[in-house]
Amino acid sequence: MNKPVLGILASGRGTNLQSIIDAVDEGKISAEIGLVITDKPAVMALQRAEKNNIPNICIDRKKYAMREDFEAKLLEKLREYEVEHIILAGFMRILSAAFIRNYKNHILNIHPALLPSFVGAHAHRDALAYGVKVSGCTVHFVDEGMDSGPIIAQAAVPVFDTDTEETLAARVLGQEHIIYPKAIELYLTGKLHIEGRKVLIKNNTSGGLS
Ligand code: GRF
Repeated sequence: MNKPVLGILASGRGTNLQSIIDAVDEGKISAEIGLVITDKPAVMALQRAEKNNIPNICIDRKKYAMREDFEAKLLEKLREYEVEHIILAGFMRILSAAFIRNYKNHILNIHPALLPSFVGAHAHRDALAYGVKVSGCTVHFVDEGMDSGPIIAQAAVPVFDTDTEETLAARVLGQEHIIYPKAIELYLTGKLHIEGRKVLIKNNTSGGLS
């Protein structure tokens, strides 16, 4: 049987991309990564894909005056490579509602905070400024809002008085690399059921991903 085809969108260093590549290699994600797309040239995510013989392209956002044109190109490439599921892995662009409709409930994202707290691009800075004692990461379906789709999985980490954005980001990232591959596999194997805002996980008695 053909494996489901993932398209991974990234913007930078791609450590989440790497954790997904590793999980696919280890048989922990039953899918093929059909394509990696970045919106910036010469980023590490492209190198990681290249090194692993995964088709990769940069669709440079700066070369498109209009978001519509950029997204049209994205869609064209995703379709060309027969991508069925989109995995956002550090992709720093907001996708339009029109784009998302093409892959409704087939786009996953990871956000480095415990949603619904600290949405947006400065989650760690915002969490530290607010003075929270616990932060973490969230895997969620992408809907038309900002970091607002139904939550699939979360992991928490402590926040220490001595933390900087960098130390907190590193602690959270360690958890991202654990929960994102697991959440992707649950999704791909049909274990997730969206009911309104809630994502129910089949046969899940622990409330977590274990
Ligand atoms: C991660 O913290 C992810 O949660 C956020 O962007 C960062 C990307 O890191 N969306 P990387 O490129 O996967 O290393």
